[in-house]
Amino acid sequence: MNKSLVFLCLIILTVGAHGCKKETQEKGTIAVSSSDTPTLPATAYSYNTGYPAHVVAELSLADNTPNNNPITNDGASLGRVLFYDKILSANNTLSCGSCHKQNESFVDNRVLSPGFLGELGKRHSMPLLNVRFYQSGKMFWDERAASLEQQVLMPIQDHLEMGATLNEVVSKVKAKTYYPALFEKAFGTKDIDTTKIARALAQYVRSIVTYQSKYDRVKQGAASFSTLEQAGATLFATAPAPGPGGARPPSCAGCHKPPMFITSNPEAPFSLPDPNDLGINNQRRFKSPSLRNVALRSSLFHNGSVSNIQDMLSRGAPGNGNTAIPAHSVRPEDVAALSAFLQTLNDQAILTEERFSNPFK
Ligand code: HEC
Ligand code: HEC
Repeated sequence: MNKSLVFLCLIILTVGAHGCKKETQEKGTIAVSSSDTPTLPATAYSYNTGYPAHVVAELSLADNTPNNNPITNDGASLGRVLFYDKILSANNTLSCGSCHKQNESFVDNRVLSPGFLGELGKRHSMPLLNVRFYQSGKMFWDERAASLEQQVLMPIQDHLEMGATLNEVVSKVKAKTYYPALFEKAFGTKDIDTTKIARALAQYVRSIVTYQSKYDRVKQGAASFSTLEQAGATLFATAPAPGPGGARPPSCAGCHKPPMFITSNPEAPFSLPDPNDLGINNQRRFKSPSLRNVALRSSLFHNGSVSNIQDMLSRGAPGNGNTAIPAHSVRPEDVAALSAFLQTLNDQAILTEERFSNPFK
């Protein structure tokens, strides 16, 4: 270490940061590139603006944001830090971001995710995209959490996932030097408690909205679909998928409602045959996450057993050995068009946007 580096370390130690490995000079402030101190911009990023008209219109219909927890830039910034902070797990090894990875559309492409002790969970992780458009606000594949504010505290306490108690987590958060100022900015007080932790996490998760896909540009009149994509769009909106036993289920869009492609009310008959999981109220019903970015994902459905959209769409084809999924397999000649349309829902920007990224790096 040369003299100036040693001096820099001393300054950093006096302001309470830990570690002194890779200090860098950034925008006139000292940013510490260590794994236990977040690097944040002086003024918070924007978390609730810039949406095109069709997304704003959907928000006015379906937004599950409660009146007592509107998204603010400072609230979502605090939520971002908590989301990526490993101190939320019992042994400081996992953060929310370990199973909801930004570069994988905030899901884990592994079929099942290992928890803090390496044990696998029981269901596939869920992509945290456009969660705020799920009208009832109920969370998880089986909707067992009544709201996002309640949901975000559950993985922390789950015995397989993060294995901590809320008291432990509150103490650990209070002990970190960077949190009091962030709570003060977000909530006007340095007091740290579980309600504020839950509200900040929920604000951050609600702010993860995709609106920069080709589909969105087409909606805004700034691009047009290819012939194949247009054929897929028409099939998605109108054609009933062939159902089991001659039943005629609604169209894809009847369940996965555009523009966010969410099933806000999974009442329509549907089940992915699964003897181990009965879903909502044991009725073989499951919530479906937003289909945006689904073409970038693998391990689909509540148990992750469907490899990708091609696998799903072609399961009904004779002779391919897999059980067809009711309402999800289409005629072989329609697979290419539906895949092309689903790919227009991909938002690549969200996979790397700084405001959603891990600040501990
Ligand atoms: C060990 C992996 C793991 C960790 C860590 C984890 N999750 Fe999850 N998450 C999952 C799984 C698996 C599900 C689906 C579980 C189910 O439905 O039973 C899920 C579901 C969710 C949902 C429901 C989404 C929806 O549309 O209903 C939200 C929101 C969520 N997680 C947020 C978080 C937050 C916030 C944290 C950190 C406090 C977190 N998760 C930590 C694996 C994880
Ligand atoms: C009757 C309502 C219904 C219809 C019709 C329907 N879906 Fe679904 N879809 C669901 C539900 C519910 C799930 C989640 C089920 C589960 O995990 O077991 C789902 C899951 C999916 C998934 C996986 C999502 C994920 O995140 O894992 C994709 C992709 C999908 N549907 C596309 C389609 C397409 C394309 C069509 C038209 C051919 C269609 N769906 C028709 C209700 C429906």
